[in-house]
Amino acid sequence: TEFSTILAEKHDGYALITLNRPEALNALNLEVMTELTAAAAEFDADPEVKSIVITGAGRAFAAGADIKEMKDLTFSKAYEADWFAGWQDLASVRKPIIAAVNGFALGGGCELAMMCDILIASEKAKFGQPEINLGVLPGMGGSQRLTRAIGKAKAMDLCLTGRFIGAEEAERSGLAARVVAPEALMDEAVSIAGVIAGKSRIASALVKEAVNLAFETTLDQGLRFERRLFHASLATADQKEGMAAFVEKRDPQFTDS
Ligand code: HXC
Repeated sequence: TEFSTILAEKHDGYALITLNRPEALNALNLEVMTELTAAAAEFDADPEVKSIVITGAGRAFAAGADIKEMKDLTFSKAYEADWFAGWQDLASVRKPIIAAVNGFALGGGCELAMMCDILIASEKAKFGQPEINLGVLPGMGGSQRLTRAIGKAKAMDLCLTGRFIGAEEAERSGLAARVVAPEALMDEAVSIAGVIAGKSRIASALVKEAVNLAFETTLDQGLRFERRLFHASLATADQKEGMAAFVEKRDPQFTDS
């Protein structure tokens, strides 16, 4: 499929989606939301794709929801259209998504990065929830996912002051999984995609489902769910292959079955 606000490419074992409105610092308008969620759904359904990498063209990952598109938005229009609800489609993707955060990840851009599963930050990355400066608040999960990711103290600090944090503080706070030099960012993201491509697609979907449930449920319910998924994993050919390969001291050949 051809898109106008993103680039979507299939590579060997993974897909790469690049937000491509660099002149607007990849501001997230409705078209970007529609295209990005459509591309992600397409790759989610493609058996040859084991993970998805998302990055931004130019000096931003995404500098937030598109302020020019929102400035005259009214309550009734936003409420009726349930503005931003379409982003949930990205959060429902079952394959691992790697965010390669190359620059500004602000507002909706930070929220988009937090919808991904592994967040890799370039040393040039800047994170923030500056909606307070516009007289609004985060609208795509910032108050919820950021608080779960880095705790109340830092989430309040960022959302109330609108200040930006760099990659080092983001990693220290638990927002980013790894920080790398700008020139190493895409290699790092692609190497993670390569690692994931060598695993069982079923096992990685089970992992994603189980870890995400930790944000939704009580410990007792979560532990029970994890146990049941573990039991279910014993019904896969990949479990038999993975454990046989270990015992036979060879590399496993997973078949995603
Ligand atoms: C629309 C944006 C934009 C945005 C940048 N641009 N961010 N357009 N929406 N979120 C545009 C600018 O208007 C400008 O276009 C071009 O991108 C380059 O940006 P500059 O501001 O000239 O660059 P710079 O001076 O380097 O500053 C970079 C920046 C700044 C610090 C990232 O652009 C900025 O503060 N952006 C807004 C960040 C923000 O507030 N995000 C949260 C949005 S609200 P022109 O055409 O003028 O050259 C949100 C959730 C909303 O995400 C939820 C509410 C319900």
